[in-house]
Amino acid sequence: MFQHQSSFAEGSRCGVLQDRFCRSVTYLRVSVTDRCDFRCAYCMSERMRFLPRRDLLSLEELDLLCSTFVSLGVRKLRITGGEPLVRRDILGLFRALSRHLDSGLLAELTLTTNGSQLARHAADLAACGVRRVNVSLDTLDPARFAALTRRGSLGPVLDGIRAATRAGLRVKINTVALWGVNDDELFRLVDWCGGEGHDLTFIEVMPMGEAGAEDRQGWFWPLDELRQRLATRHHLTDVAETSGGPARYVRLETGQRIGFITPLSHRFCESCNRVRLTSAGELFTCLGREDRTDLRAVLRGAGLAALEPAIRAAIRAKPQGHDFDHDRLAQSSGCVRHMNHTGG
Ligand code: 5AD
Ligand code: SF4
Repeated sequence: MFQHQSSFAEGSRCGVLQDRFCRSVTYLRVSVTDRCDFRCAYCMSERMRFLPRRDLLSLEELDLLCSTFVSLGVRKLRITGGEPLVRRDILGLFRALSRHLDSGLLAELTLTTNGSQLARHAADLAACGVRRVNVSLDTLDPARFAALTRRGSLGPVLDGIRAATRAGLRVKINTVALWGVNDDELFRLVDWCGGEGHDLTFIEVMPMGEAGAEDRQGWFWPLDELRQRLATRHHLTDVAETSGGPARYVRLETGQRIGFITPLSHRFCESCNRVRLTSAGELFTCLGREDRTDLRAVLRGAGLAALEPAIRAAIRAKPQGHDFDHDRLAQSSGCVRHMNHTGG
């Protein structure tokens, strides 16, 4: 799990980014916009206020920052939002970043999307070397989908998923487990993903940002319970390997793989290989903490040469674990940032 280095000094001399706990940072998640065409009730309030445009990194700045991370050993880039595909000319960023796939420095370029715009972008994304896409989908019921997303509609998302599959992309479905909202769809979602050949991962609802949904605590559906329910109809075998991330996987007797992300547990912090960059250029080295480094200020102030030392210093200070606390779900906001700010 850990890559042992005799000291951090050594860790910082080699190209690879390493923190004080000898974790190598090889995975960068980049939120390219905090905007979204949906207003999922667990994620944001109906009258969400977004960042003014001048605060956003330009696509060129995003490319510069991502490319710097790649030169420092980041092997996997995930583009997120908000909804990344609502950002104008976002395909230009994918095209630019695909040069790192061609050079072999980058092993994977991928995205997380709500799927609303995927139908028209799927083929271009595949042409940029994207091989996999995570699509957030919490329900297969059109009326429920409209209610939960407040302004989304299910049809275009399903079209997007089909277009992605046709373009040769592997689709992973991410479903936030919501008690009283989609608990009755557990088997339907599992069967649908099995039939379509999509991996499926359930996510426990996290206490992030003010969502204006009083019910978020009532929606908390522990994945242990979900798993037990799944076991009433399926034979589950734990899958030993992890992706270095927070997901744990089981395999059903059909061969279908189901993932579970329980962000409130600390289990995965010791193997955490990831950091996050917001659309405003803040680097968060831990999803559950407020510590951040303003890389936009570095880039627009001291310039490109100052980036690498700033990134190295931030990574060295990466906290050992996160601050989430289950009881905080009871408070209006456990973590003041919204998911669309840091990216999922
Ligand atoms: N808790 C859990 N998941 C969330 N997402 C957004 N907000 C939350 C939250 N508060 C999910 C989205 C998407 C992923 C990127 O994050 O539904 O699947
Ligand atoms: Fe948009 Fe995703 Fe938040 Fe829903 S969960 S509002 S799709 S960012």
